[in-house]
Amino acid sequence: MKNDTKVTTLGRDPDSNFGIVNPPVYHASTILFPTLDALEDVQKTKFKNQMRYGRYGTPTTFALQDAIAELEGGYASFAVGSGAAAIVATLMAFTKKGDHVLCVDTVYAPTRRYLDVVLRRYGVDTTFFDPAIGAGIASLIQPNTTLCMVESPGSLTFEMIDAPAIAAACRAKGVATAFDNTWATPLYFRPFEHGFDVSIMAGTKYIGGHSDIMMGLVTVRDETVYKQVRPTVDDLGSSTGPDDQYLAMRGLRTLGVRMPRHYETGLRLANWLKAQPEVDRVLHPALPGDPGHAIWKRDYTGASGLFSYVLKPLPRAALAAMVDGMAHFGMGFSWGGFESLMVPSDVKSLRTAVPWTEPGKIVRVHAGLEDPTDLIADLEAGFSRLRKHAGSKG
Ligand SMILES: Cc1ncc(COP(=O)(O)O)c(C=O)c1O
Repeated sequence: MKNDTKVTTLGRDPDSNFGIVNPPVYHASTILFPTLDALEDVQKTKFKNQMRYGRYGTPTTFALQDAIAELEGGYASFAVGSGAAAIVATLMAFTKKGDHVLCVDTVYAPTRRYLDVVLRRYGVDTTFFDPAIGAGIASLIQPNTTLCMVESPGSLTFEMIDAPAIAAACRAKGVATAFDNTWATPLYFRPFEHGFDVSIMAGTKYIGGHSDIMMGLVTVRDETVYKQVRPTVDDLGSSTGPDDQYLAMRGLRTLGVRMPRHYETGLRLANWLKAQPEVDRVLHPALPGDPGHAIWKRDYTGASGLFSYVLKPLPRAALAAMVDGMAHFGMGFSWGGFESLMVPSDVKSLRTAVPWTEPGKIVRVHAGLEDPTDLIADLEAGFSRLRKHAGSKG
């Protein structure tokens, strides 16, 4: 099956459900066992898609998890309460006191914080590395390194990593590898085919696609990795509700038509922004000339709608005049929904391996599904407000 057929087909079983197209939504905590034998049996065994207790999943959960696992080309998937919970589950599954983690410097801020603050408190040390490191990562691997955590392109600044080179160097030294694939989704990048052990997605973003759920998805490459990750997922107790699972499934059905539109509109906006004299640089790996473009072209089959631009230094009042008056670009956290967003951000405090030195403000854009001509008109009006205030002292 091709991806578009997969996203519309996986996880459905009308034959076992009165012919109904979508999987049913089971609300459950208690699962009843008819006999003592059955109760004891479930206490002794732990297999995939076993009905045991609501927190461990119902047929609604299993339908979603199986669909994601197959779309990713992995062995199994776990749906947890948020993208952050998916990252935490992965970081905890591969570490214990005294271990060492390698993490790309451009990772999502709460991932960095969890490593730097929480895991450090439990005796796990992290080295953050330059996203351009490639095979050079081998020199950072210590005897106690157990996990390498990456995200590509990087959060807010969109640097690409040489994923296969990093995965191969880690595999050669027995270091597990995890990839936050929220940006590309398995439609545009396939972590397992590039040598990774775990693929993570914030289902909150493109899988849900409508800015109305929180969801995390951890997918594992094979049964060995499953056995390593499953106990931690179970122990964390971060389950998802059936209505959100249903909405994630519903989002999945249109992923194949939404992603190309996010991709195309994103590039149109990026090219428009690139031509503005107030814009220093556009950070988008699908743009020819971007430092990550060659890797993106080699490893990815598309791009999502998320990218940033760096403004030349301007008074705060000029930025406020632009963003406060946008008609279509909302200002808020998260992304991956049908609506466009624009958020000024700071990354200086979030980079330690390679300091961020550009003086201007970074503005992250999410290209939504609106008509791109309306979005460009909104940008034109916004930049004209910005220009009017560019000389102010505010
Ligand atoms: C790359 C990336 N990974 C993970 C997450 C976390 O997802 P959630 O907000 O569902 O916890 C985010 C959220 O912004 C993200 O941008």
